[in-house]
Amino acid sequence: MLGTLARIVRHEVKTLRGVLYRRIAVNKADERTAIDEFHKLYFEARAFNQTWRNTYWMGHPILKCPLDLWLYQELFFRLRPAVIVETGTAFGASAHFMATMMDLIGHGQVVTIDVEERPGRPSHARVTYLTGSSIAPDMVARVRERVGNAGPIMVVLDSDHRREHVLAELNAYAPLVTPGSYLIVEDTNLNGHPVDPEHGPGPMEALEAFLQGGAPFEHDAEMDKFLLTFNPRGFLKRR
Ligand SMILES: C[S@@+](CC[C@H](N)C(=O)[O-])C[C@H]1O[C@@H](n2cnc3c(N)ncnc32)[C@H](O)[C@@H]1O
Repeated sequence: MLGTLARIVRHEVKTLRGVLYRRIAVNKADERTAIDEFHKLYFEARAFNQTWRNTYWMGHPILKCPLDLWLYQELFFRLRPAVIVETGTAFGASAHFMATMMDLIGHGQVVTIDVEERPGRPSHARVTYLTGSSIAPDMVARVRERVGNAGPIMVVLDSDHRREHVLAELNAYAPLVTPGSYLIVEDTNLNGHPVDPEHGPGPMEALEAFLQGGAPFEHDAEMDKFLLTFNPRGFLKRR
């Protein structure tokens, strides 16, 4: 009697799961709309000091979607980068997050660049802060010198989000990325992809121009697996 009941319950649960999954996944257009609407809600909630404007890594404000940080962690564990170059330090929390992950792996350094030197940034033995514009030729030269012949190298672009600036960064720093490693272009969601339609040409438009020029990178579609990312098509793997 009990065995029959358990079988019926198991069958009902399986059926219910199937129905729920089909309701969400069968209609791809509905799925896209649901993801984009949630993305807009998540992004705009910053106005009420919520979501990504109220996210901290070890007490320091970090301007990222936590789902993306989880992708970062998976990449770091897989690639064991020797150096990560980050443009756009802000409060230092993203560099500190990367360094903390490197502590767990026991390997790697972070070089992070910002025009502003904000007080109170966390210090960490694996992090080097550089001050100046990421696209100034002397800054690019300094970073190249620091990276040297180390490998693997990853690059994260997260500074001025206007198209021309991001394109200049792509041209300056993408060549540092070693084959099989990643170049992450942050905030490709801006300018209506799907948030902030008034932004004007930004990271996504820079990325498109860069790839159209034949750069040896391809979007890693596996990085869409959490559905919401602030960097749609922005996780690029070097061939
Ligand atoms: C989006 S924030 C960086 C967020 C940070 N990576 C995080 O995840 O918390 C952008 C930063 O880029 C910096 N920035 C703007 N123009 C820059 C430039 N030309 N070179 C370097 N940094 C720049 C700003 O001062 C700002 O701190």
